[in-house]
Amino acid sequence: MLAIINSCCVYGMFGHLIRVEVDVSSGLPGFDIVGLPDASVKESKERVRTAIKNSGFDFPMKRITVNLAPADIKKEGSLFDLPIAIGIMAATDQISLGERLQGTALVGELSLDGKVRPIPGVLAMSEEISQRQEIASFLVPEENGPEGALIPGKPVFGVAHLKEAAAFFNGQEEFLPVTVDVKQLLGVTTLDDALDMADVRGQQGVKRALEVAAAGSHNILLSGSPGSGKTMLARRLPSILPSLTLEESLELTRIYSISGLLPKNQALITRRPFRAPHHSASAASLIGGGRTPRPGEISLACHGVLFLDEMAEFQKNILEALRQPLEDKFVTITRVEASYTFPAKFQLAGALNPCPCGFYGDPVKECSCTPHQIHKYLGRISGPLLDRIDLRMDVPRVEYRDLEAENREESSDQIRQRVEAARSIQAERLAGTGLLCNAHLGRKEIEKFCRPAPEAKKLLQEAFDRLKLSARSHDRILKVARTIADLDNAHEIQVHHIGEALQYRG
Ligand SMILES: Nc1ncnc2c1ncn2[C@@H]1O[C@H](COP(=O)(O)OP(=O)(O)OP(=O)(O)O)[C@@H](O)[C@H]1O
Ligand SMILES: [Mg+2]
Ligand SMILES: [Zn+2]
Repeated sequence: MLAIINSCCVYGMFGHLIRVEVDVSSGLPGFDIVGLPDASVKESKERVRTAIKNSGFDFPMKRITVNLAPADIKKEGSLFDLPIAIGIMAATDQISLGERLQGTALVGELSLDGKVRPIPGVLAMSEEISQRQEIASFLVPEENGPEGALIPGKPVFGVAHLKEAAAFFNGQEEFLPVTVDVKQLLGVTTLDDALDMADVRGQQGVKRALEVAAAGSHNILLSGSPGSGKTMLARRLPSILPSLTLEESLELTRIYSISGLLPKNQALITRRPFRAPHHSASAASLIGGGRTPRPGEISLACHGVLFLDEMAEFQKNILEALRQPLEDKFVTITRVEASYTFPAKFQLAGALNPCPCGFYGDPVKECSCTPHQIHKYLGRISGPLLDRIDLRMDVPRVEYRDLEAENREESSDQIRQRVEAARSIQAERLAGTGLLCNAHLGRKEIEKFCRPAPEAKKLLQEAFDRLKLSARSHDRILKVARTIADLDNAHEIQVHHIGEALQYRG
């Protein structure tokens, strides 16, 4: 007898419907799965066989053939355990082949005792299921239930055991779909209170630059001598970023879910990520990769901050690989069978010393490096990469009087309020464009939204000639000036906005 079960898998960022065809016929007992890579077939067969037996059902001593279709989609992982087991049970009359089975897509890994274990990628699958007319409901591991239910439209059911799944299809019990209150989930943004801008004494100029960076999601590079507070300041950037929008939150959750990084008991990621990969990180871990490509740090930092501390210590080829995603906001990884695209809308924050000894340009301590050493050191960060960094800021050493001063520094909360106000001005202006902030503006939007007042235009023109700026620099200065004007609640970009933006070009 043949049973056909609907299932789903994830390919890159997207869910794909898979048909699990299970045929049980008389003949020499055997169990074959076609359409899965060798290694996972073997493991899946063992889990399915044992889970069925240990749940009190019969595992047929017959010829079992399982086909996962379509064949051209590469499938991996253990998420087909549950549909295969249900298929075997349906083909042997232990589960009714009714409407419910036909209209449900199901996924889940089985453990040997029949428990249904959570799997990665449920949100992306749920998105796909919600758009497929032939599927009426989605059955997922209990722990993945809230994640699946984030997408409205089709009911999502959670089961914790193979027995429960059988009862679901046999209509033996009343099952209620999982419900989540997305707005409420989004509201529980827990900021890392341990890191507050108020901890940083003085450094008003750098704090202002970070505020501008946060307000427009601009890339920023901090350079200064050892111990000047670069790492300390950059780590506090997330504390002044606005809270995530629902759309951003869902995209981020999807990335973490397919990477298997969604924390247990958390259906939605509500905090902007701060990723700080070490300078010895490989290209694959940073950009994304693997045999079946997985998102890298640049995607895990999506809608948040990618912090490269000691930036000049990273391998040059790795830094160069950031150029394309910095420009396009996505990365494409090509494999023989297909190419995979992952979002990479991260904000880059970099920190570095100005030279190998760290004291070049320091007013107190003398630099002991040769010009050649300095040149070689800073040469790791190429012109085109530097061109993509909107704000470059020298971090001066902290003055003793700042460290000892009694005054209270401004808190992250206070700064974040201004940032959020500037962001809502941007959101309103950009409504309908699909963009959210100034850093993401393209040529067209710059022409439209970043027109400086005549005086301001003149200043930019002079600077362009004098500093021999590139066309990209020109556009980036305008975008930063737009953000500064937004923080100022100014409709038009004025001279002092351009002036400040120019300062940040180093
Ligand atoms: N402005 C400041 N206010 C208060 N403490 C500071 C400040 N700047 C630096 N510190 C103190 O100095 C320590 C070192 O700062 P941090 O690690 O950020 O320096 P850095 O610029 O990253 O140095 P390096 O170049 O060596 O990485 C901090 O942990 C903090 O205790
Ligand atoms: Mg540091
Ligand atoms: Zn030096």
